[in-house]
Amino acid sequence: MTMDMPNLKRLSDFIQAVTKLMDDHDDKQRPPAGIQSLLAELVTHDDWLPEFCTVPHPTFYQQFLLHCDPLERFSLVSFVWGPGQQTPVHDHMVWGFIGMLRGAELSQRYRSNPDGTLTADGEPDRLEPGMVDVLLPAEGDIHQVFNAYDNQPSISIHLYGGNIGAVSRHVFDLSNGQPKTFISGYSSNVIPNVWDRSAGRKT
Ligand SMILES: [Fe+2]
Repeated sequence: MTMDMPNLKRLSDFIQAVTKLMDDHDDKQRPPAGIQSLLAELVTHDDWLPEFCTVPHPTFYQQFLLHCDPLERFSLVSFVWGPGQQTPVHDHMVWGFIGMLRGAELSQRYRSNPDGTLTADGEPDRLEPGMVDVLLPAEGDIHQVFNAYDNQPSISIHLYGGNIGAVSRHVFDLSNGQPKTFISGYSSNVIPNVWDRSAGRKT
């Protein structure tokens, strides 16, 4: 085992802990208690994310699937922001937690007005490594996310209450609030192999 080998046990332990919480949870609209502290613990450590899930694209922010629950009750995604990259204004349709791993990001929330337009809701929230933000559709989850840095990548780890890459959701035109349906997909067909128990035992 080299020093560069990612600590995938940390990732598989997290996946197992979330799976157990979901097994005891019936409410699809709200996350089980305990999720936020598990994600906060995961992103407090930066020794487990495989290198290929950290690589920015020159033009597009990247969404590397780390794990999807077999019943699609949750998914875990590494979001990699190149310098200065940002999302459109969007919603999620499922609950979500955003844990900051490297760099920093800004999240500007929006609220819907009765006439269908959108208004910025306060100042952007800044997420630093170890911090976790929560998105709940029932409380309004429309936002736009920016890499806080224009000279370095940033990485956040997202846990969603569904297979987020397959969820039909919306981007919004800020000039009139008009929604447009989109399905994000993922940036890679490869996911980390967290199930090789021989890792770390080979000499
Ligand atoms: Fe988002």
